[in-house]
Amino acid sequence: MGEELNRRKFLTYVGTGVTALTVASAGLGAFTPKVEAKGTNAASHLFGRKKKVSGVNFTPIKPTTKDELVLPRGYKYDVVASYGDVINRQGETFGYNNDFTMYFPIKGSNERGLLWVNHEYTSDLWVTGPRGQNGKYTSAQIEKLLYNQGGSIIEVYKDEEGTWKMDTNSRFARRITGLTPFRLTGPARGADAVGNVTAVQGTFANCSGGKTLWNTVLSAEENYESTVEAASLNENHYGWIVEVDPFNRSFAPRKHTALGRFHHENAAMGLTNDGRVVVYMGDDKKDACVYKFISKGKYIKSRKQANSALLEEGTLYAANMSKGEWVALTIEAVREKAAGDQELLDKFQTQADVLVHAHDAAVLLGATPTDRPEDVEISPFDKSVFIAHTNNSNHGNIHGHITRFLEANDDLGSLTFDFEIFAAGGRQSGFSAPDNLTFDSEGNLWTVTDMSSGSMNKGVFTTFKNNGVFVIPTLGESEGEAYQFASAPIDAELTGPCFTHDETTLFLAVQHPGENTEDINNPTSMWPHRKGDNQPRPSVVAITGFKY
Ligand code: FEO
Ligand code: CA
Ligand code: CA
Ligand code: CA
Repeated sequence: MGEELNRRKFLTYVGTGVTALTVASAGLGAFTPKVEAKGTNAASHLFGRKKKVSGVNFTPIKPTTKDELVLPRGYKYDVVASYGDVINRQGETFGYNNDFTMYFPIKGSNERGLLWVNHEYTSDLWVTGPRGQNGKYTSAQIEKLLYNQGGSIIEVYKDEEGTWKMDTNSRFARRITGLTPFRLTGPARGADAVGNVTAVQGTFANCSGGKTLWNTVLSAEENYESTVEAASLNENHYGWIVEVDPFNRSFAPRKHTALGRFHHENAAMGLTNDGRVVVYMGDDKKDACVYKFISKGKYIKSRKQANSALLEEGTLYAANMSKGEWVALTIEAVREKAAGDQELLDKFQTQADVLVHAHDAAVLLGATPTDRPEDVEISPFDKSVFIAHTNNSNHGNIHGHITRFLEANDDLGSLTFDFEIFAAGGRQSGFSAPDNLTFDSEGNLWTVTDMSSGSMNKGVFTTFKNNGVFVIPTLGESEGEAYQFASAPIDAELTGPCFTHDETTLFLAVQHPGENTEDINNPTSMWPHRKGDNQPRPSVVAITGFKY
């Protein structure tokens, strides 16, 4: 039956669940991981997906240039929160340029929960106002810049009419911003390289992230430089993975230095076969590496949030793709390699130095510079690891690709791996610039695209029209084929796709609609087209209409 799963049939097969998955697995080639051949959801424990509840079953849309979030017939979206909205009784407001979202059910509910939302950067036009003639912001503008980045914790619920809304009476709703105090953990805490401090100010440039096995959120600090410069901060205090417990204010927000400092895109957590925690991470820069951190200690479920300490001690690795090896970034290895080069020996004196300058250490030790690794996701079905390499014009990789790592022995703790190019952007696939990834219970990889607002609908990007969401099966005959599910408003990027556990709702962040606007009175987009509003607003939406 595997052969019958052709492109057309995919549309009827999706939605039939684990049975179809098992059937589809039978047709896979040599790259098939062993765990998959058993027909089990080998890694489902990672995400609590023990059984399939729903699936997708949609007629793909065509690319469009509409100033709207376009969805297939039968689906609708509710705007849950927009830039500037009040989120709680204290009057705190939703930040700008929402990115990663993560749903945390309240009492297991698929209709009420907390939503963590990253806020990546601001806009001179819509947030701070223009800089002065000296090119600098005023202190009031800097405060706005810092306040509107970071994260929001909002409470969301589905009302009786089936509309998702924000509950501003929530006792959990609060902001984490560029002004919130953070504790440093791990080898660089108190180290010379961070100015000997153990606590730092704020988080910003929060791109994507991940959820821990103990129900906290990890948020990735990516392009921190401009805010560091504008606010005269210490740059070594930014570019880390931060952890926050959305339910618990007394869990101090923290930055885990053991996971390295670079242009963090995301943090995808899993377990090694012997029970240690592993975190896969992309460094979103041209010619930057793919990383994984493996904890020293083992995950013990009953310890709950105390497992956070696992992220304080362990080994950071970077991928050498030509050898298929994970290279440990240790001070011993770096100093051995640097022997005879006094400049390098001065730069790398302690493990903290290695972590603070993780990219330089990785390249020195032979890790492979790649094409802007963005989101990483671990397949909950076979534990293969998917990496969105968004693009790299330096190498003529204009449309990017999705790489799939297969760890030796299907063990996320392995130090050797094989890989393939799972899907390539371009006219033939219909997508360009893959960015955030998430899985559904059918083994489909949901992929959002991020063509820059300056290049969209021009030149070689013309045929793709606006950015979108694409669904790409990772199993069966349609493996690697992309089906468009959504199209973004003008100039926007769709980010942070996150399903509720029963997959009846997909949260999605619409980032920077109208980004190319030059005249504030004549915006290029007015999405979400709020009545009486005079500007476009980055917003998080809840998409419903998924069929059982
Ligand atoms: Fe913030 Fe790598 O996208
Ligand atoms: Ca991204
Ligand atoms: Ca991107
Ligand atoms: Ca972005």
